[in-house]
Amino acid sequence: MPLSAAALSTVINSATDTAIIALDSRGAVLSWNPGAVRLLGWSEQEMLGQTLLRIFPEETNPQARVTEEMADAQSKGRGGHEGWRMRADGSRFWAVGELTPVTDPAAAPVAFVKVLRDRTQWKVSEDALREEKRTLEILNRAAATLARENDLALVVQAVTDAGVEVTGAQFGAFFYNLVDAAGESYTLYTLSGAPRAAFEGFPMPRNTALFGPTFAGEGIVRSDDITQDPRYGQSAPWHGMPQGHLAVTSYLAVPVVDRARHVIGGLFFGHAQPGVFTERSERSVALLAAEAAIAIDNARLFEAAQGEIEERRKAEVALQTLNATLESQVAERSQQLRLHEDALRQAQKMEAVGQLTGGIAHDFNNLLQGIMGNLQVLRKRLGQGVQSTAADLDTYVTRALASTSRAAGLTHRLLAFSRRQPLSPKAVRANPLVLSMQDLLRQTIGEKVELSLQLAPDLWTTLCDENQLESAILNLAINARDAMPGGGRLTIETHNAELDAAYAAALHGVQPGPYVCIAVTDTGTGMTAETLAHAFEPFFTTKAVGEGSGLGLSMIYGFTRQSEGHARIFSEYGQGTTVRVYLPAHFNAEDGPAHALPAPSATAAGKGEVILVVEDETLVRELVAEVLRDLGYQVLEAHDGPSGLQQLRVPQRRIDLLITDVGLPGLNGRQVAEAASAERPDLKILFMTGYAEKVSASQPFASPGREILTKPFEVDDMARRVRALLDGGAGR
Ligand SMILES: Nc1ncnc2c1ncn2[C@@H]1O[C@H](COP(=O)(O)OP(=O)(O)OP(=O)(O)O)[C@@H](O)[C@H]1O
Ligand SMILES: [Mg+2]
Repeated sequence: MPLSAAALSTVINSATDTAIIALDSRGAVLSWNPGAVRLLGWSEQEMLGQTLLRIFPEETNPQARVTEEMADAQSKGRGGHEGWRMRADGSRFWAVGELTPVTDPAAAPVAFVKVLRDRTQWKVSEDALREEKRTLEILNRAAATLARENDLALVVQAVTDAGVEVTGAQFGAFFYNLVDAAGESYTLYTLSGAPRAAFEGFPMPRNTALFGPTFAGEGIVRSDDITQDPRYGQSAPWHGMPQGHLAVTSYLAVPVVDRARHVIGGLFFGHAQPGVFTERSERSVALLAAEAAIAIDNARLFEAAQGEIEERRKAEVALQTLNATLESQVAERSQQLRLHEDALRQAQKMEAVGQLTGGIAHDFNNLLQGIMGNLQVLRKRLGQGVQSTAADLDTYVTRALASTSRAAGLTHRLLAFSRRQPLSPKAVRANPLVLSMQDLLRQTIGEKVELSLQLAPDLWTTLCDENQLESAILNLAINARDAMPGGGRLTIETHNAELDAAYAAALHGVQPGPYVCIAVTDTGTGMTAETLAHAFEPFFTTKAVGEGSGLGLSMIYGFTRQSEGHARIFSEYGQGTTVRVYLPAHFNAEDGPAHALPAPSATAAGKGEVILVVEDETLVRELVAEVLRDLGYQVLEAHDGPSGLQQLRVPQRRIDLLITDVGLPGLNGRQVAEAASAERPDLKILFMTGYAEKVSASQPFASPGREILTKPFEVDDMARRVRALLDGGAGR
């Protein structure tokens, strides 16, 4: 049963929470219940006959909304949307409800009923919830990015972006807290919501009244309208934002502080509209700033770690390179050292050569002086004729000859050192030799020095030039005497020595094997290390001018080496000296001397024998030829090997003796001799030589029918040797 109109009216009027409004077909109010009065604030009298345009907010285009609602109600049976509506006092509420048509029996709309309810409470909490959810989503997304990202720039960008999103700012920026010397100036780091160009023309935010608190980490600054803030516009030159700056009304700034309470920088947000930033914005950015601080810290740590790893990697690579090149570096260094060593050795050699040439020049000048001076005086005396007696003249000749023989001694010792003296090696028994020298030695060393001989009874025989060995022993005895001016003991000891490979290896050029050792020891001054190092060098002497020429030990050194032995000095300053001479043992001990010279003939005169003289030095050749002719020989002369051989090859020509120089240019004397022997096997040969090329004990010149004459020689000696050769060895 339908309600009566009165009952219906009672129902409508009692609905105080719900606005129930009846409208005619054009939208004018027919009835306005108490719920509508309560909800919207206008009385029924005020609203009867009025449209509902006033309850729609201006910005929603009320006319369009009303028209749309009525059209929807007619066509669809229901019109209207929930949304903000206006009260008489200008306040707003969130309305839900609908507009439904009232139709006549012909279904034509005759009126409309609008029902409205206030849902503001619900709307606000739903909005808040949605906003909260959105905020959480943004923050979560940002947090995830920050947790994952190690790149400092990306971290800061993510924070700035999230800040802009979560606060609804038009733009946001992160300013890095870089304090300059003046204590102000910050660097723009990241921007969001605005192009970098929007800030490029402006200086960095400074430590002004407004920015200062943020960079000092004093807390969040939030303002609905920053231009109204008392701190705004305090600083020159602009007193506010510079011209052309993005408009900032709503302002939010939050410091980013790391774990060490150091302010890394600040997050700044702006909006042209006032009141954009809420408490929630503030809370969200505070959260973001905290997360940013950690992420920035981590990113920095990561960067530092990366840097360190990179450093380490570089160091490792460097080490590897070093290792790889170490070998070549060492090789290079060794090469350098070798070069230095070579240079040093060269320098030392040059010094020694300098000393040698200087020494020779000095000694020879003295000797030449003696020869030249005496010859000049002799010529003067000869020019004076009869006033000079023969005995007078002979004095000068004798003096000149004395100088020449001293010069010959000098060259002989030099050759000994250079191991080029002509040697006549033969089997030598050192013990009898030493014993035979006893008297000479005693005379030499004087009475203050005691002589002691310790000769091994079963001493091996050695192979060497006996005269040279004698001279070596004498030289050592003289050195010993000179080292013992106050007297002492000179010991000459002989023994057999077997030198092993290790010992030999330590001495350059010495072969291992059996040796005869002759050691000469004194109890004298000994040598300093310096003297010891140079003692074997020719012309090295510590003795006063005229007392020593520095050739004694060098001669011994050369002689032993040429004889395939060696010499060593053992000496300590103040402790005395031992010089050991090692000569190779020779086990064909039964050999007598290599050959026996026939007794010299009483006369050296020739008996018309024919002698061929091959000598490139004209002066020497002529002298020899003249002497031989004087003696009664026939002499043929040749200035070199080939022309000498030519003469030998002349058939039927008598030639009894060949005298040849050894050091001939081209074909040398030895080769001439070989060729000559091939032509005439019986030919006797006399070699003349100033020095011997590579002469050693195993290659003696001398053999039966062959003799060697050492330059300079005395002409009488030559004559005797020629005669002896021609007389001896018949049948060859
Ligand atoms: N027995 C020794 N005791 C101490 N020093 C020595 C001895 N033998 C040689 N010397 C040192 O070695 C140097 C060289 O000796 P070496 O026999 O070569 O020449 P010298 O004796 O000075 O002169 P020379 O032998 O030509 O007359 C000597 O000047 C001396 O300083
Ligand atoms: Mg000496």
